[in-house]
Amino acid sequence: MTEEKNFFDEIEGLDTTCRRLSGLSALVTGCAQGIGRRIALELAKEGADIVINDLSSQKEKANKVAQYIESHLDREAWMVEADVSDIEDVKRAKTQVEENFGKIDILVNNAGINRDNFFTKMEKKDWDQVLSVNLDSVFNCTHTFLDHIQDSAQGRVISLSSVVGERGNIGQVNYASSKAGIIGFTKALAQELVRDDVTVNAVAPGFIATKMVLDMPEKVKDKIKKQIPMARFGKPKEVARTVTFLASKDASYITGEVIRMNGGFYL
Ligand code: NAI
Repeated sequence: MTEEKNFFDEIEGLDTTCRRLSGLSALVTGCAQGIGRRIALELAKEGADIVINDLSSQKEKANKVAQYIESHLDREAWMVEADVSDIEDVKRAKTQVEENFGKIDILVNNAGINRDNFFTKMEKKDWDQVLSVNLDSVFNCTHTFLDHIQDSAQGRVISLSSVVGERGNIGQVNYASSKAGIIGFTKALAQELVRDDVTVNAVAPGFIATKMVLDMPEKVKDKIKKQIPMARFGKPKEVARTVTFLASKDASYITGEVIRMNGGFYL
């Protein structure tokens, strides 16, 4: 409750006068909380209407994000429940989006999970689950909504990779593989979609202060901070504003890139 309250208090201060995404619509996967939530709000602040996606178990939180966008940012927001690791569910969601909302221009592949363990102890189900939520979802959503994005005058695919996809991390063989896969996906698809004027990019955040990171034991968090030259975790807002930049016309000549943001942790 306190975390929720503080979160929306911070949003109150957003400047809604700058509208780089007016007339555009964005789908953000897994945006009931964390980085995705902030991305949805920043895109709306810049003028985009938003399709909010998350699992049905996150409905209450997702509705709060939608309500905030409609009441404070004067944009349309519509929630579609879907498990993005399941392509049939994503196809069903697309039909609902078309019936209730319209087409999207910008896809942000944000939904992600971790199931950490040393490789020797990692079970196949934890490998499968992480790969399917983090990487299959990127195929499922991009493939399913591609016709919308190709039709747009400002089509964008932006995916959340991670520093772990580039440098690896103990206990995260599954997560690192999924996030490295997103980098390959981004570079290959960017080349295919250049002819449609669609840009395809990824961001690779370091450790960002969300539940995924804040839930780690204090000792582990302190150890990590000591390895970050900026000596702090990143903020969801810092990731969200980079995603917003990639979605905007300001980034029209950037494609196939992976933008690192990790406080100097990995260069
Ligand atoms: P989070 O755990 O706070 O939020 C993830 C959201 O995705 C949740 O709302 C969850 O319900 C949703 N989700 C999970 N499985 C889903 C599914 N199958 N279908 C639809 N929605 C689903 O995570 P956080 O920290 O906000 O991370 C967002 C993205 O950023 C993830 O892809 C994560 O891997 C990536 N990332 C996070 C970093 C961090 O330090 N927090 C660093 C680098 C990357």
